[in-house]
Amino acid sequence: MPIAFGVTNQPADRAPGDLLAVPVFAERVLGPGADAVDAALGGSLRDFMAESGFAGKPDETIVVPTAGSIAAPAAVLVGLGDPDAVTSDTLRRAAAAIARRAVRARTVVTTLQQAAPDGLATESVAQAVAEGFVLGSYRFLEYKSDGEASKLARVNVIGARDPAIRTGFERGAIVAEAVSWARDMVNEPSGAKSPAQFAAAARRLLAGKGVTVSVMTEAELRAQKMGGVLGVGQGSSRPPRFVKVTYQPRGKRLPGTLALVGKGVVFDSGGLSLKTASGMETMKTDMSGAAAVLAAMSAMQALGVRHRVVAYAPMVENMPSGTAIRPGDVLRMRNGTTVEVLNTDAEGRLILADALALAASQRADAIVDLATLTGACVVALGEKVAGIMGNRAEWVDQVQAAADRVGEPLWPLPLPREYRKLLDSEVADIKNISSGGYGGALTAGLFLETFTDKVAWAHLDIAGPARASADDGELTKGGTGFGVRTLLDLASAFEPPDQPNGIRRRSSPSKRRTSSRPRPARS
Ligand code: BES
Ligand code: MN
Ligand code: ZN
Repeated sequence: MPIAFGVTNQPADRAPGDLLAVPVFAERVLGPGADAVDAALGGSLRDFMAESGFAGKPDETIVVPTAGSIAAPAAVLVGLGDPDAVTSDTLRRAAAAIARRAVRARTVVTTLQQAAPDGLATESVAQAVAEGFVLGSYRFLEYKSDGEASKLARVNVIGARDPAIRTGFERGAIVAEAVSWARDMVNEPSGAKSPAQFAAAARRLLAGKGVTVSVMTEAELRAQKMGGVLGVGQGSSRPPRFVKVTYQPRGKRLPGTLALVGKGVVFDSGGLSLKTASGMETMKTDMSGAAAVLAAMSAMQALGVRHRVVAYAPMVENMPSGTAIRPGDVLRMRNGTTVEVLNTDAEGRLILADALALAASQRADAIVDLATLTGACVVALGEKVAGIMGNRAEWVDQVQAAADRVGEPLWPLPLPREYRKLLDSEVADIKNISSGGYGGALTAGLFLETFTDKVAWAHLDIAGPARASADDGELTKGGTGFGVRTLLDLASAFEPPDQPNGIRRRSSPSKRRTSSRPRPARS
């Protein structure tokens, strides 16, 4: 059940609810509303915190009994750390920590949003808080006989009524519902997630969301010359699908079409280049990119996105069998390029090749793809940070800026021209793995670039952050829905990049980069 968000102007000690949640800063400095809890304890809150080892650091929570002295039967303190370092991310994490502590509470009242420093916009603070509450109470209980769902049904923040808070809550709830759908799909076991079932779930999600959905079956994939999707899918008894979703804003439309592409491998066994048993354990999550782009499409209309957005989600199961693609086989992709498949476990790039080529041919002004593409990217950046690569610094910067605003960590990786020759094939136009074992995230990116036909393109390798190995902030162990927030922010703020042939579509001066992050190099 979705959580309802509201505002109340009652003071913290009188606001009704099952739980009062108040922030505490580093070194146990009381945040807004904490004085009410202190009064309820007869002035002993500092001693209580000190004795229980609660320091006010980010992610810390502690429950305090209030023994009938204030309206809420219990209070929870949530740490925020240094008050000057509080950002929307801090508040999103804090809201999630409260939600996790509030499994049995139906109504939470909180002063959390009052802890934001003056520089932060009220709307984005409220949005982050709503996202944190929804995502922190997320649980995948589909197959749990005794699973206990969060009871949280209402969150009231204490403060003056402000339309910006209301808007932020609405947007946050919409975004978090989309993220939750992506998580559900990622967490769903592959046995119940054939390409056809995944496509059907997408159709159900997107019905009534102001988008048109088309699903290609095998015959249409053949007619459309989708050699990569068909080749990877041919080893499975469950045939591939290709979902295309078009969002056409009603009313006044802003120029430019944004294309989203997501890898939808419903299970990656590796194919004949079989993975190890442990290597397969998490491979039900290999459709996280597709789940993210489909989830994002479900929220375009509700968020009032004013650009045209088109999503492309190839869905396949990568299995070994008598009909499977063999190492050494050659596939002809949608755009005519031939690919020698030397490792059937490098399958994501094969299905993305068709999807990128299709997007590039259907008047996309800019493309962003999301894919759990390489273990090498996880080696490079770990489990929390996605790699970003692309063919146009201006576009990569725009995607990076969106990710920075919503708190999804991305870090630029280069596409070194020198490495392109590592993909040269003896028999076909290109091969699907590189000679020599290093730089696998980059050579995968270079492979994809071949199919983008010079359209502005950014590639997010989300192999690490698509799933979480433990609860962390707003993330619950398992599928994370990584990328949904970035895509929705990106679509809302989209500016079509300049065309490479010098046609300028807009005349704003290029923005200065403010971070110390390196630019992705085209060397
Ligand atoms: N789906 C995997 C990548 C992956 C690995 C995602 C670990 C999440 C965690 C992808 O299809 C794959 O198998 N990539 C290979 C490529 C190699 C054969 C060139 C890899 O990374 O080992
Ligand atoms: Mn693979
Ligand atoms: Zn894969």
